[in-house]
Amino acid sequence: MPIKKIRSFLIAKSYDYAMRSTEKNCLQKWRKELLSHAKGDLLEIGAGTGVNLPHYPEAVTRIILSEPDQQMRKNLLRKTKKNQKDRLDVTHWDAEAIEMPDASFDTIVSTLVLCSVSSLENSLQEIYRLLRPNGTFLFLEHIISNHQPTRNWQHRIEPFWSFCAGDCRLTRDTATAIHSAGFRIEQLTEAPMTGAPAFVRRTIRGTAKKSLTTKK
Ligand SMILES: C[S@@+](CC[C@H](N)C(=O)[O-])C[C@H]1O[C@@H](n2cnc3c(N)ncnc32)[C@H](O)[C@@H]1O
Repeated sequence: MPIKKIRSFLIAKSYDYAMRSTEKNCLQKWRKELLSHAKGDLLEIGAGTGVNLPHYPEAVTRIILSEPDQQMRKNLLRKTKKNQKDRLDVTHWDAEAIEMPDASFDTIVSTLVLCSVSSLENSLQEIYRLLRPNGTFLFLEHIISNHQPTRNWQHRIEPFWSFCAGDCRLTRDTATAIHSAGFRIEQLTEAPMTGAPAFVRRTIRGTAKKSLTTKK
């Protein structure tokens, strides 16, 4: 649909610029800390413009960046030409349908993506399926506020915000969904995303493990 294409073009063009002060205030530091836990074969869903790339440690042997949005993917491909290209592939997969066999990855990364996927539950099931036993899911996501007046606003403006911001939802309880998908949450930090509007400020970040046996 043309309107979606225009939206996608505008978001991809402005994303790094729009995020620059939040990146400086907190996100860059959080990304670095979080991604220091990455290792082995790694998949990043919704890789966007590739902001996580500089933070992947040497313990990561192979990186697959998946980004379904064509405009975002163009930025990503530009960035990957300069960065980490020897251990890296870029794909178009949607988080709900990754074209890889079960247990393909040691680490899966999602930063500011689970707000935008169509189904949070299906995406988390897919992440669970793709991780090896004892594999690690690294996440950094904004979630529903715990302040009732802000929550009310989040519900009210969600349809409009979602349309403008690439289907981003404001009212997801992502930590509960990660737990319900069968993961064992090992580390969970909650913090305000300094400089972001109040309705996207509350974030969680941390590590979650798939069980050692293949059963949930
Ligand atoms: C807010 S941006 C975050 C980009 C990047 N991960 C970051 O940390 O800055 C959300 C990204 O999720 C992608 N996305 C949206 N729906 C998706 C889906 N169903 N599967 C995978 N990625 C998706 C968007 O195209 C966009 O690049």
